[in-house]
Amino acid sequence: MRIASVVGARPQFVKLAPLHREVVKRHRHIIVHTGQHYDYKMSQVFFEELSIPEPDHNLGVGSGSHGEQTGRMLSAIEEVFMRERPDMVLVYGDTNSTLAGALAATKLLIPVAHVEAGLRSYRRGMPEEINRVLTDHMSDLLLCPTELAMANLEKEGVQKGCHLVGDPMAQVLLEIEPLLDPAVPERFGTRRGGYVLATIHRQENADSRENMESIIEAMLEYDGDIVLPLHPRTAKNLRSWGALSRLEAAGHIKLAEPQGFLAFTSLERHARMVMTDSGGVQKEAYFFRVPCVTVRDETEWVETLEGGWNVLTGADKVRIAAALQRPRPKSEPTLTYGDKHVSQRIVECLEALMASRS
Ligand code: UD1
Ligand code: UDP
Repeated sequence: MRIASVVGARPQFVKLAPLHREVVKRHRHIIVHTGQHYDYKMSQVFFEELSIPEPDHNLGVGSGSHGEQTGRMLSAIEEVFMRERPDMVLVYGDTNSTLAGALAATKLLIPVAHVEAGLRSYRRGMPEEINRVLTDHMSDLLLCPTELAMANLEKEGVQKGCHLVGDPMAQVLLEIEPLLDPAVPERFGTRRGGYVLATIHRQENADSRENMESIIEAMLEYDGDIVLPLHPRTAKNLRSWGALSRLEAAGHIKLAEPQGFLAFTSLERHARMVMTDSGGVQKEAYFFRVPCVTVRDETEWVETLEGGWNVLTGADKVRIAAALQRPRPKSEPTLTYGDKHVSQRIVECLEALMASRS
């Protein structure tokens, strides 16, 4: 088979890594990078650290408003698919690259497989929610990470092509955990187990001055180290609001550029706590058994809330402060999001679908 993967954003490169290794065992894999993320630290570093080959096509779409960015991707991906004629297209997660890849393939009658299908926040105002609902309803194969994702799809009447395969990010974490360097926190002027690792990039927070003020206040008042690798969206906004200097002036806040995957997961592994609005980072904290504070009102990864390992605070300064002070949960996390065979199961699903159609 000729299988094309469409990726464009940081978390998609992570999910692509184990899939690529599995696909090329028996098939031709065409990697299409939309160019949604383009800074070295948001893109290339993941290809290098996770041994993913250079994309076959880099569409260089870059940043823009939702319509502009998705539209440019749609037209560029269609052109690639018309030339490459893949038998099947893999899309990952819930970004604009996911939606554009799924739509381009669907219109060309190429079967679509959605990795990380069935997740829901049930908040339509979130761009990712629209992307994932539409992608799920276009897909021929819905590759779900959890039982709950399977149940969500059933509720929406999506029944054909759903498979519980696990989360490819869990596979990556299992593979890289032995490689993580415990000395990484020292590079940030802090020590193992003695800091909060924070990331903020979700549109609803990063683009809202009010939400960011509240989150920054909570960080400034925290009496311990905070390592804060800033997503470029957040960095640009804070700079334009004149708020970056307040963080820079606080000795306990260790501001940093976006980190490579190995440094970042090492920081997660050795943090006292994680504070984030990221989807992937919540799951990774749970994997490493590091308590998490999620600066959102809801999560798609609801399993992480069990036993208090993850707590939702919204962008509320008082709730964030309280969640950062809570004791470590006593019970161990019970769920594993996947094993080392997630990508193998996914490729078997692709092969079964093609066999059933030939
Ligand atoms: C996107 C996804 C989000 C995902 C996140 C992962 C959508 C709608 N959002 O959000 O679901 O969680 O990726 O990180 O697809 N920028 C740079 N350099 C880059 C990339 C972005 O400077 O390499 C800046 C640009 O100013 C850009 C802004 O960040 O406008 C936002 O980038 P964009 O890709 O639109 O959204 P993300 O916030 O990264
Ligand atoms: N990540 C990274 N460096 C960073 C921040 C995040 O390598 O500075 C990784 C993180 O380990 C996870 C993924 O990027 O695998 C999550 O991406 P992000 O939070 O941008 O997106 P989301 O998961 O919310 O879609």
